[in-house]
Amino acid sequence: MDLLWLIFLAGLAALPPIGEIHKQLILLGLALFQLFEGRLLAGSVRWGRPLAVVIKIALATLLIAHTGQVAINSSYYPIFYVPVVTAAMLYGPWGTLGWTATASAAYCSYLWPALRQYSLNPAALEELALRLFFFFLLAMIINRFVMETRRQRDLYRQTAESLAGANRQLQQAQAETRRAERLAALGQLSAGLAHEIRNPLAVIKGSAEMLQQSLQPAAAGTPAVAPDANPAVAHELAGYISSEVNRVNLLVARFLDFARPLRLQRSPVGLAELLDRALADAQERWPASPVRVERDYAPDLPAPALDATLCERAFANLAANAFEAMAELPPGAARLTVRAAAAAEGGRAGVHIAFADTGPGVRPELREQIFNPFFTTKPSGVGLGLAIVAKIVDQHGGRLRLCEDGPGACFEVFLPLSA
Ligand SMILES: Nc1ncnc2c1ncn2[C@@H]1O[C@H](COP(=O)(O)OP(=O)(O)OP(=O)(O)O)[C@@H](O)[C@H]1O
Ligand SMILES: [Mg+2]
Repeated sequence: MDLLWLIFLAGLAALPPIGEIHKQLILLGLALFQLFEGRLLAGSVRWGRPLAVVIKIALATLLIAHTGQVAINSSYYPIFYVPVVTAAMLYGPWGTLGWTATASAAYCSYLWPALRQYSLNPAALEELALRLFFFFLLAMIINRFVMETRRQRDLYRQTAESLAGANRQLQQAQAETRRAERLAALGQLSAGLAHEIRNPLAVIKGSAEMLQQSLQPAAAGTPAVAPDANPAVAHELAGYISSEVNRVNLLVARFLDFARPLRLQRSPVGLAELLDRALADAQERWPASPVRVERDYAPDLPAPALDATLCERAFANLAANAFEAMAELPPGAARLTVRAAAAAEGGRAGVHIAFADTGPGVRPELREQIFNPFFTTKPSGVGLGLAIVAKIVDQHGGRLRLCEDGPGACFEVFLPLSA
């Protein structure tokens, strides 16, 4: 912008009267002022604005005096557009009108000396009126444009501010929701754990009390078991205690699997071998199971960087669920298909692994709950299997979901190739 101004003023300097040193000095003054106007306005808006307009009116008035035989007739009169446009840009409509009137008055002040020598004929008066009229017209057009731009800028700023405010509120609300969700999840988890431990504890307590009643305290020289105690009953009660302790032990071990923070040790793994090991684990646990396992591994399976132990545990849990779901099916009807193929999700390359069975499937109303810790529909289930799978998959940056298609249940895992 400054450069354009300088070119424009240099153009004026190159036009006649060229030898008029005052004219050139005034143009130089205008050019210099134009360059420093920004700083003046930035330093003090209150005084900078009127000063900028006044200086420009003064320079324009001087220029007129040095560019015409009769100043009021000078062809340089449009130089008054400079202060007029400046005022239109810095002030509102009334301020612009006021400053345009001041500039017009400064221009008309040259009527005074001119009228001493010449008389003002109607044609000259019309010409003067036209020039003044154009000062006002230009001022008002520019001011209207500037005001509209300013209004839109304010509107934009207000919108941006309210959007930022809304965004802050949203973030706060999200943080609060997350906190509430975390607390709710923790509460659910603790309640589930307490519930799971209470049942075996009740059995242990009952068995211990009955055992205590059937046994006499061991006195010196007498056998520990009272003559009327039934050793078979005592044996059975002790068996309950032992199996319930085992149950609590298993629960605690599984809970620790779930609750312990996972530290992944990633290394490229052969997926096919990993899946085979998990399936073999399930087959070993249920050697008499009717389930027939079908493997559908893509030939070009990539080797993602995974924690092999944890992923094997996750796949073993999925396989165990499928074996358990199909335990009652007649041989031939129970089929577990394990699919593995390269895939991409959310712009990330990875692998899809699906465990699809022909069991009864998951009822629609349970689809959300089955991933909650301690949710189980099995009499001897703990309800941590899928929660552990979900945690391991999450830690790998992957995703676990229950597919809606297929007759039985189908759990699909996506694991990215790397972190
Ligand atoms: N393949 C499946 N077919 C049908 N239902 C399933 C299947 N897998 C999981 N479920 C349902 O999801 C529930 C939760 O499974 P999850 O593995 O978390 O716990 P669980 O198997 O009951 O107990 P455990 O902690 O011993 O694994 C199961 O009780 C069952 O109702
Ligand atoms: Mg399970």
